[in-house]
Amino acid sequence: MGVHVSKDCCSTYASGPHGGMGAAVCGHAKGDQRVRIALHVRHRNHVRCIVRALVRGFISRCGEHGDCPDASCGRDPGRLSACYKGGLESAVVRQTPFLSISDLHVQYGKITAVNGMSFDVREAEMVTLLGPSGCGKTTTLRCIAGLEAPDRGIIKVQGEVLTQQPGGVLVPPEKRSLAMVFQSYAIWPHMNVFENVAYGLRARRVDPGRIRARVQEVLRLVGLGGMDRRPATQLSGGQQQRVALARAIVLEPKILLLDEPLSNLDAKLRESTRVELRDLQQRLGITAVYVTHDQAEAMALSDRLIVMRNGVIEQEGPPLEVYMRPRTAFVADFMGRANLLAGVVLGREDGRLRVETALGPVSCIGNDRMAPGDKVLVCIRPETLRLGLPGNGPARARVIRHTHLGEYVDYYLAVGDKILRARALAASPKLEGDVVDVSFEGPIVAVPYEELGKEEMQGGGHQAQSE
Ligand SMILES: Nc1ncnc2c1ncn2[C@@H]1O[C@H](COP(=O)(O)OP(=O)(O)O)[C@@H](O)[C@H]1O
Ligand SMILES: [Mg+2]
Repeated sequence: MGVHVSKDCCSTYASGPHGGMGAAVCGHAKGDQRVRIALHVRHRNHVRCIVRALVRGFISRCGEHGDCPDASCGRDPGRLSACYKGGLESAVVRQTPFLSISDLHVQYGKITAVNGMSFDVREAEMVTLLGPSGCGKTTTLRCIAGLEAPDRGIIKVQGEVLTQQPGGVLVPPEKRSLAMVFQSYAIWPHMNVFENVAYGLRARRVDPGRIRARVQEVLRLVGLGGMDRRPATQLSGGQQQRVALARAIVLEPKILLLDEPLSNLDAKLRESTRVELRDLQQRLGITAVYVTHDQAEAMALSDRLIVMRNGVIEQEGPPLEVYMRPRTAFVADFMGRANLLAGVVLGREDGRLRVETALGPVSCIGNDRMAPGDKVLVCIRPETLRLGLPGNGPARARVIRHTHLGEYVDYYLAVGDKILRARALAASPKLEGDVVDVSFEGPIVAVPYEELGKEEMQGGGHQAQSE
């Protein structure tokens, strides 16, 4: 069943597992992350009924249904509900992309900043471009905003072409109905909070009464209620960031573009602000593209991550999937800490790979192309290593450093001539010189072998990339 739900209204045919069931869908977004749609379901014997469902990426709950407009249906609503429920719940709803980027290329002289990026963002989805400094995140965002003309590529919002290069369309930024929030908040120091937020609405000649109400409402939403008369110069970094955010969302942009908006805040404030930002985005159903080089921030904020490297997409998926199932050494390393151990594939058993490593044979999740004799890197997250008494694990190790971090302890372990990072709960910590046996708990993933340059190693696992 492929159901298209758009903000306004659209219809499509869908067939469910009950055979030949069709649904025309009218959808409209509410001020809520969910989209309430009415499914005009065409039953097998061509009876039209209306079923309401709540959609959030997938149909997450089958709601109550209305009366069947066709009196000849003769079925009681309860039975109809049951009849459709199975079909709808097992259906995957594919929303038409709200924003779509295809084959984006940006060249600055000899530097290829963006090298063929293609991705979609669904309505009310928060997608994060994550990658090291210089990988092309900001350039991609500026292309979406219309601040940059790519050498090649197509950018569409709700099917409307905003950029088509070379030679074609380039809708100017102010006509795109998008808003961008930058790292440097760029709020006006000579204006108070209210004026900063109202500025965009005034420029659009919105009625003053409406401006007042709207600005107050948005200030409340971002936690600045009652601060409207405060001069911008008397705001803390966190408050300035909220003003910048309020200024963007007050314009009700179709898409919010955020470029490292929290990186000027101190660590604690950054953490709490990202939770609030995520909450606001979900409550208002904002469609957003977020840019950061901070893996934890990206994981906390996003529905989906796009990990970038040198202007291309290295991996894309839900945050946990990217973390647990990295497809390359670069992603494994960038997404938190990873011990990357060189190994050779011995064979397959029960759909898993057996890989010979310095820790002995390890059973891992690999890809279909990996064959016996292939050199791979085995990615072992520090939290999956268990430290036991000697005689309790496949590999003997010696603790060479331990750092107590309160809740847990970070270890450097020597296994032969290899160094591994481990992280364990702080109960009965091991000390320097202790001999332990290490075993694994949790998924271990094998990725294709590659040499990672020092400048690319972010996750701190590079001590452990060894032959
Ligand atoms: N206006 C520009 N002129 C020349 N090079 C640029 C320009 N903007 C960005 N670059 C280069 O393009 C690459 C990607 O930059 P950017 O998109 O800012 O990366 P990120 O935001 O991921 O840190 C970098 O190598 C950067 O130096
Ligand atoms: Mg940048």
